[in-house]
Amino acid sequence: MLGKYFKHQLLEKIAASAGTPVYVYSAPVFLKQIAAYKKAFRSLDPLFCYAMKANSSGALCALAAGEGLGADVVSGGELYRALRAGFAPDKIIFSGVGKTAAELEYALAAGILLINAESFEEVLELERAAARLKKPAPFSLRINPDVDPHTHKFISTGRLDSKFGVPFTEAEKIYMYAAGSKHLRPVGAQFHIGSQVHSSAPYALAAGRLAAFLLKLASRGVNLNYADVGGGWGVREGAEMADPSALAAAVGGAFKGAGLKIIVEPGRSIAAPSGALLTSVLYRKRGGRKNFLIVDAAMNDLIRPALYGARHPVALVGTGGGEKNVYDIVGPVCESGDFLAQDVVLREPAGGRLLVVYSAGAYGFSMSSQYNSRPRAAEALITGPSSWRLIRRRENYKDLVALEVL
Ligand SMILES: Cc1ncc(COP(=O)(O)O)c(C=O)c1O
Repeated sequence: MLGKYFKHQLLEKIAASAGTPVYVYSAPVFLKQIAAYKKAFRSLDPLFCYAMKANSSGALCALAAGEGLGADVVSGGELYRALRAGFAPDKIIFSGVGKTAAELEYALAAGILLINAESFEEVLELERAAARLKKPAPFSLRINPDVDPHTHKFISTGRLDSKFGVPFTEAEKIYMYAAGSKHLRPVGAQFHIGSQVHSSAPYALAAGRLAAFLLKLASRGVNLNYADVGGGWGVREGAEMADPSALAAAVGGAFKGAGLKIIVEPGRSIAAPSGALLTSVLYRKRGGRKNFLIVDAAMNDLIRPALYGARHPVALVGTGGGEKNVYDIVGPVCESGDFLAQDVVLREPAGGRLLVVYSAGAYGFSMSSQYNSRPRAAEALITGPSSWRLIRRRENYKDLVALEVL
């Protein structure tokens, strides 16, 4: 399904010029997913804060900023990238369980919309930072609504046993404390129940609980401006994002008439279908029980298959190839967990042939590392039917040691 956006001739051109492995993103697909969100949420007019952790490439972030989106950042580094890419500070929100005092000060000084705090102690740290800067701190609390999003345990965040957010009872105490502080401005409440959520039902449940809580809070004199429903809308490997209208309906229903500005933090659903990883076959090998294609991309480039058991569709670029066979596609890293795909049926490619791994635009490059001292891949952006440009050069050996002192 995504193949039509990644024309093989263009992929061959990109690989010939940039080398492999290379991440290839499609600007038209990225913009299409954003347009789908805008259409689905038209009547709610929310603030979309693109979750940069999915893909923080400056060129893609600049596209999102150009569409009027804000950014959801989870570190000082992401905030730095967001500002550099052109997101308006008053559309940036800062999430995460462990922000340091320096990160909180950076965010306050930058004048971002709000900080999504996740514990009483963090709120106290924020209060101290605001006092030092003599600048009131607008904040929102991440609330754990105890909702099961029915997703992989590593990306499930909305149950009470997760490290994220605070329960409603704790949240109430924090808001009441903040209401009496001259440095804190409680402006919002947030939840993020997990990632790869394919149904609107858990959102409806969580939003309903949050709406009821906000009414209770209002009755105690604390009126907030923002209700933030997080990100996490799922997208199947190999496909574009499913229409988020059901998500919009669930959110709209829960907060109807509440007079709150809705914030949505989509990441994966925008970025995943917009990117592919291009890799070259190095060797073929028949093992005792399996056939292997050893390629030049590895788990350091794309860790999702090893970490989450993600199954990315893989295709041979161009036509031809030998007999059809079942392969495991593995990289050069010294780990048995180093595979990009398992049990894939392909025509046998000769060495040097290109493979394209789809749905790699989210949590691909952003989770990549230099493990095994492998320089990180290059990144390219398709800008039109036959146009593209390099948006990050391939790292080299000097980059590997640039920060070291012998
Ligand atoms: C607070 C928060 N918001 C948004 C997201 C984005 O989720 P997704 O990329 O699944 O849309 C995440 C992902 O972990 C998150 O932690």
